[in-house]
Amino acid sequence: MISKKIEKLLNQQVAMESDSSQFYLAMASWAERSGYNGVSAFLYRHSDEERQHMLKLIKFVNERGGVSQLPALKSPPVNFKNVNEVFEQLLKHEVKVSEEINKLVDNCLAEKIIRHITSCNGTYRNKLKRND
Ligand SMILES: [Fe+2]
Repeated sequence: MISKKIEKLLNQQVAMESDSSQFYLAMASWAERSGYNGVSAFLYRHSDEERQHMLKLIKFVNERGGVSQLPALKSPPVNFKNVNEVFEQLLKHEVKVSEEINKLVDNCLAEKIIRHITSCNGTYRNKLKRND
């Protein structure tokens, strides 16, 4: 069973993956309309990949007794100046998502360590009681 704190953090990551998928989908659509077929195909695949990340997180939360919460979809931009702007925004977004994932992992590891220490302390206390 995951804690409410971790459940909340995972649901925030679900929202971030959903936003990413929408953002890249908007970029793919713009690229397709602008005649950049290769770029468009790349971005459609990238959008699908982000949706798969979202689905994995939802299943992860559910399988551990948590409640996954689906976010409202944000409306991404419709137009971009050029392909360079698309990839600059994509890179900036990926960096932000990576930073958030790193924070999520740090929080999960910290909670795991705290649970382990708490569990070890309980076992140690029980051993001391038995030896009294
Ligand atoms: Fe992702």
